Amino acid sequence: MKERLLQYLACPLCEGEIKPFSVTKEQAGEIIEGELECASCSRRFPVVRGIPRFVEAREIEPDKAATAEKFGWSWQHFNHHRPDYAQQFLGWLAPVRTEFFAGKVILEGGCGKGRHTQLAAGWGARDVVSFDLSDAVETAFTATRELPNAHIIQADIYHLPLRRVFDYAFSVGVLHHLPDPRGGFVALAAKVKPGGHISAWVYGAENNQWITRLVDPLRKNITSRIGPRLLLHLSKLPTALVYAISKTIYGPLNRSPRGRRCARHLFYNDYLNSISVFDWREHHSIVFDHLIAPTAFYIPREEFEEWWRDIGASDVVIGWHNQNSWRGFGKIG
Ligand SMILES: C[S@@+](CC[C@H](N)C(=O)[O-])C[C@H]1O[C@@H](n2cnc3c(N)ncnc32)[C@H](O)[C@@H]1O
Repeated sequence: MKERLLQYLACPLCEGEIKPFSVTKEQAGEIIEGELECASCSRRFPVVRGIPRFVEAREIEPDKAATAEKFGWSWQHFNHHRPDYAQQFLGWLAPVRTEFFAGKVILEGGCGKGRHTQLAAGWGARDVVSFDLSDAVETAFTATRELPNAHIIQADIYHLPLRRVFDYAFSVGVLHHLPDPRGGFVALAAKVKPGGHISAWVYGAENNQWITRLVDPLRKNITSRIGPRLLLHLSKLPTALVYAISKTIYGPLNRSPRGRRCARHLFYNDYLNSISVFDWREHHSIVFDHLIAPTAFYIPREEFEEWWRDIGASDVVIGWHNQNSWRGFGKIG
């Protein structure tokens, strides 16, 4: 934990100032093991393996704990990084571009393995503070520890240990996995200062009826209940199918002008074309991610629009991404 993270922290219970209480291990100016303390209510929070921990396993509700357990495993296994994550990330954030990050204090909600923390920090953010409920923070910390402007904390989106000081917050692929997606969005937005901005990307209800009717019952009743190790092997079968069609049909067709005219009419073309650039491991990670999640909501556009009204956002831009999900961007206050 880098010392400059302290300026962004606040007690999740009383919003008091957070200060170091004890340091038992330090490395290159970072607290690796120790404790933080709230100056107002004296509640202590451990720093373990360089990461401040604002959640205790016994305090997490069972549905959130199940989600954290599954994603924690997933991101510690699929801990690879790819150069084309940058393009994918910008697709989820449009109209935001790389220049937008420069000089800003940024908050990432649900950072997983830290791939977007790395990118945001590399694009010139003043500081990026990223949190996740799960043990994925271990992977995110390793991925970002050399970056002086990247900070990882373990925290629940509904009880954030943060001050309202952020210029920009984003959350990619997280809110639809929460028990109350709208509540998570509102909690994240509450940390953005007036005049700042927020982006969110969520699964759409529209065009995903085949998932909600066919895949969802399987996910809810079977695959999210299977141990991750077994699911890792079982998920190779659907991955092989997705990989084969994206690589041999959707990708090649979409790369030629004549093929593209024909591909437009294919089932789920935009999405399957977008993932056709990825290798086997990334396809496997995507399929596994869908099957392992205990909670997943598919959000109708109308409901997504209401979220932005709830936070009083202005200049809101909401749009399709790959014709199967919604991305939004707006200004706070
Ligand atoms: C599908 S992953 C997306 C990770 C990352 N945004 C990315 O795109 O690589 C969803 C993440 O949300 C995290 N998450 C789920 N519930 C959470 C909560 N209540 N608070 C914070 N993070 C949460 C999970 O642990 C998981 O890492």
